[in-house]
Order: sequence, then C-alpha cells, then structure tokens
Amino acid sequence: MALSFDRHRRLRTSPAMRNLVREFHVRKEDLIYPLFIVEGTGVKNEISSMPGVYQFSLDRLNEELEEIVAIGIQSVLMFGIPDEKDACGSQGYAEDGIVQKAIRQIKETHPQLVVVADTCLCEYTDHGHCGVIHNHDVDNDESLELLAKTAVSQARAGADIIAPSNMMDGFVIAIRQALDEAGFKNIPIMSYAVKYASAYYGPFREAAESTPQFGDRKTYQMDPANAREGVREAASDIAEGADFLIVKPGLAYMDMVHRLREKFEVPMVVYNVSAEYSMVKAAALNGWIDEERIVMETMVGFKRAGADLIITYHAKDVAKWLGGN
Ligand code: PBG
Ligand code: ZN
Repeated sequence: MALSFDRHRRLRTSPAMRNLVREFHVRKEDLIYPLFIVEGTGVKNEISSMPGVYQFSLDRLNEELEEIVAIGIQSVLMFGIPDEKDACGSQGYAEDGIVQKAIRQIKETHPQLVVVADTCLCEYTDHGHCGVIHNHDVDNDESLELLAKTAVSQARAGADIIAPSNMMDGFVIAIRQALDEAGFKNIPIMSYAVKYASAYYGPFREAAESTPQFGDRKTYQMDPANAREGVREAASDIAEGADFLIVKPGLAYMDMVHRLREKFEVPMVVYNVSAEYSMVKAAALNGWIDEERIVMETMVGFKRAGADLIITYHAKDVAKWLGGN
C-alpha cells in the first residue's frame, strides 16, 4: 500500500529551485551601522572586545564613511563619547557636542546617508546612567527635559531620525513635542521601545565608555523575564507617536520582534547588540565557526521573526557578502 505524505523536498532540489521559493531576504537597505565618535585627532581605536569596530575622531571619520558608502550601506547610528562628562550630561545637548559635530560633518560630506542619532545621556554623564540622578535613582521627569533638549540639538545638527534609548517613561511624547516646537515636525522617532536590562551590552559600554559607576539600569530597562510588559511598552510608545519600534537585544528576544510585528504596523527594528557580535567574532577568530554562514543565518532569522531593519556591527561584512553593489 502506497503511503500518502507531502513531498516538501520537491522544492529543495537545486539552488535555483531554492532561490525561487525563498520567503525572506536580507537587503543592504535593511542595515544600520553604529558609529562611535570621540574627540581629538588621528584616532582610529579598535574596541578590544569588538574586533573590527572602532572609535573614530572627526578627522578619521571620512575614511570609514567612504568605505560604508562604497559597499552600499545607507544608514548609520551615531554615538558620541565626549572628553568632559558631568552629572547632567551637558555635552549630550551642547551645540558643539561631539555627536552634533559628527552629524554636521556627515551631512556635509555624505548628505545621502540616513543619519540616526541615539538619544541618551549615559555616554555624557559622569555617573554613567541614562538620566539625572536623585536619591540614587534616575529622576524620570527631570531627565525627560534634558533628553528632549538632546534630541532637538541632534535634529538641529542634521539628524534624519531620532532614536531615544534611555527608557524613561514618556520619552517619546516629550521628544515629539520638543521636536515639533523647534520646527522638526518631519523628523521621525525610532523608539527603543522594548529594551531589556541585558548583559549583552557589556562590550558596548567599553566602546561608549558608559558603564554605570554605581548600581545598574534595572529600574528603567526591562526585566528579561517579561514579554507582556514589552507589549505595553511598545503600545505606549506608539500612542505617544513613535514612528519605528526597536527591540533590543536581538537573539534572545526574537519572540518580542515577532509579537510586536503581529500587533503593530510600524517599521520594526531589531538591535543585534554588542555581545552578540563579540561572541560570533571570538568564535570566528578561533576558527570554530563559519562566520559568514553564521551571520547571514542570524540576519535572515531576524527578518523571519518580523524585523524590517537590523542595527548591527556586522553591517559592513553583511553588505560585502551580499555583494553586487
Ligand atoms: C545607551 C545605549 C546602550 C546600547 C545602545 N544605546 C547601552 C546601554 O543601555 O547600556 C547598547 C548597544 C549594544 O550593546 O550594542 N543607552
Ligand atoms: Zn543610556
């Protein structure tokens, strides 16, 4: 008696057949590449825990941009590391702050690039927290005022998208209102809506010199054990006017990308964070894994989970592997 079953293998018989039925694709346009900018001159300083990722001074930034543009990356995410830090992170919203100068420079040399500005204070505060401290905790509403000023100064410098990562309640509406009042009604907000208090940010904090000097970020970033709470976070950001949603980190939180994709219609972004990169790089440098296949499988996994855009330190490699520019 003949068995009756589905022959799934019919659609896997050759590379061309597999190309024909492929459901998800990674495009260069999906990639957002983070950049770390420092004061000084002649600096191209590799982050020891992130091989291939550097801090750049303004005079060395252009070489990196030329490379990025040549391989077809069209969006960057800006982080600034100031020389002077203080209690309220005033270099974060200074007109001549390091990130403002970098954004202005990019907009002069490469106006076609989409410049996304990370809006937070932790790189600029001497205590390393994402807002102003009162009684050993971050003061939500007072921090909102400084974050709104930061966003406006980034928009004035020429940022195309404001990406607040600070996890204060009400940050989207506070920034939206400030942008609107300053005449930036058309600048979208890419909200780090669902951001967990994660050990996966470790190498970033070396790159951005933003490790908290006391305590941790658990009173403002989310508990990794919570999923429904992430939906509430995203819902309030949408209600406040967020134009994009970010889920961060990526790999351990693919379920959240999927949940939000099902529930909200805005462009969905996943942040493939620093330790996710470092782990792959370490294994690759040891010859333990096939880096290209591991990274491309991860990228298409993000797309399958529901991400439209991917913020990743692998962006340059991915763009090269995608080829055909
Ligand atoms: C700033 C910020 C962080 C990251 C992006 N923006 C660090 C943090 O919240 O501690 C982490 C990115 C990464 O690990 O790649 N708030
Ligand atoms: Zn921060």
